Amino acid sequence: AKTQYHDFVIQATPVKRLCKTHNTITVNGQFPGPTLEVNNGDTLVINVVNRARYNVTIHWHGVKQIRTAWADGPEFITQCPIRPGGSYTYRFTIQEQEGTLWWHAHSSWLRATVYGALIIHPKEGEFYPFPKPRRETPILLGEWWDANPIDVIRQATRTGAAPNVSDAYTINGQPGDLYRCSSKDTTIVLVDSGETSLLRVINAALNQQLFFTVANHKLTVVGADASYVQPFTTSVLMLGPGQTTDVLITGNQPPARYYMAARAYASAQGAPFDNTTTTAILEYKNTPCAVQGIKINPVFPSLPQFNDTATAAAFTTSFRSPSKVEVPTEIDENLFITVGLGLKNCPRGASSSSCQGPNGTRFAASMNNVSFVLPPNFSILQAHQQGIPGIFSTDFPAVPPVKFDYTGNVIQSLWQPVPGTKVYKLKYGAKVQVVLQGTSIVTGENHPIHLHGYDFYIIAEGFGNFNPQTDTAKFNLVDPPRRNTASLPVNGWSVIRFVADNPGVWLMHCHLDVHITWGLAMSFLVENGVNELESLEDPPVDLPVC
Ligand code: C2O
Repeated sequence: AKTQYHDFVIQATPVKRLCKTHNTITVNGQFPGPTLEVNNGDTLVINVVNRARYNVTIHWHGVKQIRTAWADGPEFITQCPIRPGGSYTYRFTIQEQEGTLWWHAHSSWLRATVYGALIIHPKEGEFYPFPKPRRETPILLGEWWDANPIDVIRQATRTGAAPNVSDAYTINGQPGDLYRCSSKDTTIVLVDSGETSLLRVINAALNQQLFFTVANHKLTVVGADASYVQPFTTSVLMLGPGQTTDVLITGNQPPARYYMAARAYASAQGAPFDNTTTTAILEYKNTPCAVQGIKINPVFPSLPQFNDTATAAAFTTSFRSPSKVEVPTEIDENLFITVGLGLKNCPRGASSSSCQGPNGTRFAASMNNVSFVLPPNFSILQAHQQGIPGIFSTDFPAVPPVKFDYTGNVIQSLWQPVPGTKVYKLKYGAKVQVVLQGTSIVTGENHPIHLHGYDFYIIAEGFGNFNPQTDTAKFNLVDPPRRNTASLPVNGWSVIRFVADNPGVWLMHCHLDVHITWGLAMSFLVENGVNELESLEDPPVDLPVC
């Protein structure tokens, strides 16, 4: 294994999209940011220098960060932000993970433009569990605003309303030729007839789950969230923000140009969303005419309707681990966590301009009715390690405050979550089960739930209220998929299991960023084990202080 050194300079860079140039926050002037390629077992040392006018942190999404929680990145959870003019060196080792992950800013809405792929190849001399593809291409799905994304969320936070939806989706930073002024801004992926390519699809969009397809081509799924899966074939993928899916695609169609396209899976009833389509072009190198430089129109794919929950669920339930895996069978901690939106009453005397949510309220969101609040000037991990009181409390409830019909009519008292910086404490090595239960408070919605510091097994999912009497029969304890982001079905539930063998403070949240802004998050605090190998390392000397 080797050590790779990188510099990430966070800076404002002019980027032109949809006819307009914006000063965009980037890494090293690149949008999307640099692709990191490593081998399983390598160490990464990344010096992040902040030359922008915002606080920033970088999160290595899906990297388990064993004993190195200090390098995980979410601001005010594992570190204070890197201030303008400051720097911080992230140092961590990739341990037993292979496939596609990514990195992104974890500070306000900066990740709208500050993101890139993190590709983990097998160790030197080891191979994929499938024939080596001729080419590999990262496909980063993103979202673009005709405005500064930080201003978009600040405005929404002031008014309490939902933020403006994006103006375009992008593939590798390019909207594609269906948008205005974008015919040149289209990603082209070249293939040879007969050859097989690996597409590493990453949903880096801020607030939107997306369907993805390639016209006339079958996609063979071989991995997700840097774990291999039992291969299966599909024509459409659905990824929530945070999720990755590796697919093989073979150039077995007549040589031509074919669109790859992504469009919203919008599960929340009545909520506004960006209903546009981003495209890239899969181009056979021997396409007649293309050889002579003549443009020919790509073949257009069919994509599911925006509200096609059946297709989304059929896809997410197709995943299996490639062989029998070690799922914890006995459980030490059994949590039941409701996931959903909420509303806050407008405080008496507040101006109506600051409460523009439904019926003069403000939007909120919660887990078990606690709306997560980041500590304003300390990180939870630092407070824990230094024993500083008053920054957080350890009373995150293991079950919801009241039992109700989560997917039906909801009692009004539950519309108003309670704000708090609450963690749930876990002993080192605890075997944990979490039932994630979607709710229909305000509206039901599919939520991509991401856990930092761990992969977990998704042992079952379904629609409606989780029923402990009957639904346990559906648990797959043999070959469930291993992921870091679970797609929690709209008005439904998912059950995940993991062993808490990585000490630190680990955020679990909905990866639709507007939901984190509204508080759809909680944290686990995993205590040290008995010896050094089961304990958190010391903090790096340059860890930013608040
Ligand atoms: Cu990819 Cu907490 O995030």
